[in-house]
Amino acid sequence: SATPSSATSDGCFIQCLTENIPSELIFTPGSSKSNFTGVLESTIRNSRFLANTTVRPICIVTATDASHVQAAVRCGRTNGVRLRARSGGHDYEGLSYRSVLPETFAVVDLANLRSITVAAADETAWVDSGATVGELYYTVANKSSLAFPAGVCTTLGVGGHFSGGGIGSMMRKHGLSVDNVVDAKIVDASGELLDRSAMGEDLFWAIRGGGGESFGIIVSWKVRLVRVPPKVTVFHISRTLEQGAVDVLTQWQHVAPTMPEDINMEVLVQGAPQGQQQQVAVFFQFLYLGTCDDILPTIVSRLPELNATKADCNEMTWLESTAFMNFGDTNTTQLLDRSTGPNFFKNKSDYVRRGIAMSVWLEILTKWLAMNGSGIMILEPHGGFVGSVPTGETPYSHRTGVLYNIQYVASWSAGDDSSVAIDWVDSFYEFMGQYVTKSPREAYVNFRDLDIGQNTVVNDVSTFESGKVWGVKYIGSNFQRLAMVKGKVDPTDYFRNEQSIPPLLQS
Ligand code: FDA
Repeated sequence: SATPSSATSDGCFIQCLTENIPSELIFTPGSSKSNFTGVLESTIRNSRFLANTTVRPICIVTATDASHVQAAVRCGRTNGVRLRARSGGHDYEGLSYRSVLPETFAVVDLANLRSITVAAADETAWVDSGATVGELYYTVANKSSLAFPAGVCTTLGVGGHFSGGGIGSMMRKHGLSVDNVVDAKIVDASGELLDRSAMGEDLFWAIRGGGGESFGIIVSWKVRLVRVPPKVTVFHISRTLEQGAVDVLTQWQHVAPTMPEDINMEVLVQGAPQGQQQQVAVFFQFLYLGTCDDILPTIVSRLPELNATKADCNEMTWLESTAFMNFGDTNTTQLLDRSTGPNFFKNKSDYVRRGIAMSVWLEILTKWLAMNGSGIMILEPHGGFVGSVPTGETPYSHRTGVLYNIQYVASWSAGDDSSVAIDWVDSFYEFMGQYVTKSPREAYVNFRDLDIGQNTVVNDVSTFESGKVWGVKYIGSNFQRLAMVKGKVDPTDYFRNEQSIPPLLQS
């Protein structure tokens, strides 16, 4: 297992890397020739962690081949240096490139391991972990008439996004990303490169929603592509309090999860912080896999409070819809843009299994979303395919009976006092506790939140009991099985972070 490192072992680690990996792929802070800071910051998507106080890696390896990942793992094991894998860098708590406590670690950055090979006849594709979901959408749609279900934000890295589940606007029809993964290649804690048959079904199960960081470094995924019609429809509707937003939201909770699987009715509730001009507004963003005429009558009859009309419909191709929902226009070349602007945020998540009363929604909109520091709520309806998959099929346990999940987003700008927004999200989350799932209070592993628990390490191994605190919230009844898989494939806990699955050893 990794041992506490010293300057000597760090030096031996770097030496080992340089003997096994092309030197232009190795970045260390000390070297005047290498652009360490530029590479480190290239995919820090939460600007909070650009701060000087962030615990940084001693080295970054920008792997372009699976053999580089294997070499990094072997050098790390031999010299007692842990690795953190980074694909797209979207981790809300920055765990792919920072450590909460002072610790010596290196980053294996997969952003340049990003090829996508589409087998249109087979309706499958191999995609490397460093590709973004935008690149995946673009490549698949340009090489076939097919599509893939994954997240809305197009810069998400396939590696982190898939290994945590992959919620997206086609999940009611086609499931999460992981419901469509049919093979994968992982570098395990011994540095071996294993495909599905070599890793075995337990490990293959674990990496499809249990979080990748606990089990190894996944370099590639084989996915089943899905069929989409030539035209899809995006609805963009906004409603203020005066326009009946509370009424619509209250009804929406029961309608959205029970609509036909072809429609996903996402909601974004935008706060109106005190002292600002904007009003509280509720945005309804629907994706229907078909034409406006085919679905509008159903929306009007099931959710009459919304007053949706043909003027709210925007018909386009599926690929255009992925750009439209993210950027507001149909220019699909934007899907290939990996850059993002500064973004300071703290997010939390919940799941709702019983609708929230109208009086509570009124309080949410008029009180909580009108406070200083208030941010937004994003509601993702479940039901349909995503709700029909048995709980044990993948680690993602929020299936049967879930109406929708909630994401709370608190954000601020450079130079602002972050505590105003963070206090808002903390107290709002506390208030919401009475209206969402309890025992456990469920949360989504891809919306990482270190407040719900962090591992304690005893004798150099994360303890099962400390992991269980946050683990059952993210993974529910699948947590124990994940810990058993971890116990089998990485019993000494080499691959770990503050919220990695602890090993449960079988006697
Ligand atoms: P990053 O590289 O930061 O990795 C995240 C975690 O996975 C880290 O612990 C890392 O070590 C580990 N990891 C990364 N690559 C790995 C690999 N190859 N092998 C093993 N472990 C690996 N989610 C969602 O489901 N639906 C959505 O629509 C959105 N939307 C969204 C928008 C924005 C702006 C953000 C910032 C985030 C989201 N997310 C999301 C959450 C997102 O799915 C989550 O942050 C993913 O982990 C991001 O994956 P990255 O590879 O980009 O992250």
